[in-house]
Amino acid sequence: MRDKLQLPRHVAIIMDGNGRWAKARKKPRFFGHKQGVKTVRRTVEYAAKIGIDSLTLYAFSSENWRRPEAEVKLLFELLSLSISEQLADLHKNNIKLNVIGDQAALPVRLTKKITRATELTQNNTGMQLNIALNYGAHWEIANAAKELALACVNGEMDANTIDENTLEAHLSTTGQAELDLMIRTGGEHRLSNFLLWQAAYAELYFTDTYWPDFNEAQLDDALAWFATRKRRFGKIDEQITARTG
Ligand code: FPP
Repeated sequence: MRDKLQLPRHVAIIMDGNGRWAKARKKPRFFGHKQGVKTVRRTVEYAAKIGIDSLTLYAFSSENWRRPEAEVKLLFELLSLSISEQLADLHKNNIKLNVIGDQAALPVRLTKKITRATELTQNNTGMQLNIALNYGAHWEIANAAKELALACVNGEMDANTIDENTLEAHLSTTGQAELDLMIRTGGEHRLSNFLLWQAAYAELYFTDTYWPDFNEAQLDDALAWFATRKRRFGKIDEQITARTG
């Protein structure tokens, strides 16, 4: 049986490689994204089943607007369709949906759907599923700074009380388990502006597998690797041994 103590509480995934997966099959990029949605569904179900507290998926970054307009449009349509198709199952599995990122620039039809889906699932007590949409960590941190500044200007807060905790309270993942494990598929070894604050102590796992080919066994590999990591959080080995026995 899986050792619950060694299971990461919060896992984030940069789902990369849809386009290359499709290209390798001489198909249009969109074919890879469609296959990627299937992987999302399986991954969400599996993560919830094994007891992950929070799963955060990078679906559309602030930088993805630079893609051809037709691909951006198709991605939004696919997301919208996925929410419609998967919402009932998410709710049935007691999953709480949360969308993080700057929603102001998203198509209204999509934001309406997101609002309905998050409202429906807000009282669910199982896994927290965060979908990052038009998300960028620089935007998130700047936005938190803006909210703090406004609170000071409005007299609700003293600027001298601003510290790491008050800033963190304004991030999109506030109140959730600390990020333990960040996975990136598709062979690149970078964080691409994803959860930069939250990843301060996360273990980083990179795999060459393209996202459409990622499966339960591969997630298990990442989890097994995580279980072998010694998480020191700045301490020395002896302190960790003393703490965990
Ligand atoms: C990266 O592959 C993937 C994306 C930019 C989009 C991820 C979106 C999905 C998997 C579908 C929808 C998600 C949800 C949550 C339902 P890429 O296009 O950058 O691939 P490449 O690097 O091979 O070109």
